[in-house]
Amino acid sequence: MTIRDSFGRPVENLRVSVTQRCNFKCIYCHREGQLLDYSVELSAEEIERIVRVAASLGVYGVKLTGGEPLLRKDIVDIVRRISGIPGIRDISMTTNGFFLKEYARQLREAGLSRVNVSLDTLDAEKFKMITGVDAHEKVIEGIIEASRAGLNPIKINMVLLRGVNCDEIEDMVKFTGEHHLTLQLIELEHPSEDSFYMKYHVSLDGIEDEIREKSSKIIIRSMHHRRKYILRGGAEVEFVKPMHNTEFCLHCNRIRLTSDGKLKPCLFRNDNLVDLLNPMRDGASDERLRDLFIEAINRRKPFFM
Ligand code: 5AD
Ligand code: SF4
Repeated sequence: MTIRDSFGRPVENLRVSVTQRCNFKCIYCHREGQLLDYSVELSAEEIERIVRVAASLGVYGVKLTGGEPLLRKDIVDIVRRISGIPGIRDISMTTNGFFLKEYARQLREAGLSRVNVSLDTLDAEKFKMITGVDAHEKVIEGIIEASRAGLNPIKINMVLLRGVNCDEIEDMVKFTGEHHLTLQLIELEHPSEDSFYMKYHVSLDGIEDEIREKSSKIIIRSMHHRRKYILRGGAEVEFVKPMHNTEFCLHCNRIRLTSDGKLKPCLFRNDNLVDLLNPMRDGASDERLRDLFIEAINRRKPFFM
């Protein structure tokens, strides 16, 4: 049984930000829509408890995000705790890949099924320009190790930036195809359409048309109605187009948990959060947490309608 919000959208996935800390400084980073505050982080026990409450309401997928989740020293423990929760069938993680080589096997053994790795370019110089860190090779090694460890699928998150990496799509399709990875092309998102957004934002519509023409098969995923294109030669490409996209919001099935313990009904808003941390640290019962969870679900509203 999954719970639905007042717009009829099922809430099936919980995106848990385990830390705001990150060792990269990507020029486009939206910090999962959180306001920057490193002072409080949920403990592994607290994360487990909240995921249990979510699972009791029908949430079956958990995505661990950051910041950079692999900066948490107890990340393997967090994955293991979540994988022991009845009802949780899918645990994934979005990472910048820097520590993936060291962690891939342990994460797989602890119950992580799959991973998304941010990789916007195949050019080491450009990588450094985008992320602020000279780590292109290390990230590629991490991706290869993740694949060896059996994490599957591995998705490569490529945020398209005008004048920076749009000329690399073909190379990226080739690279991901050769390594049996899924390429996820992501539209730059920004709640306020500021000068950065104006400079770098590029619509993915034309790019999607080109990929569609080259594809031999199109799969529409039931989860959030996103299309997956299978290209001749086997490469797999998906698109994430959130901006001004009513379809994206219509099929949104996730709720977020911030690293400081607040439920966040929408990536784009910070005025409707529901705090769990303080009630939990003040001794709230599971029933109380469940009520707060339902309150957050009731606050869900499509941003682009
Ligand atoms: N727009 C689109 N995607 C973003 N990400 C981070 N910031 C933005 C943004 N402003 C993506 C990165 C990362 C994932 C967690 O979110 O690609 O892989
Ligand atoms: Fe942001 Fe992720 Fe880049 Fe870190 S690696 S700066 S969290 S986009």
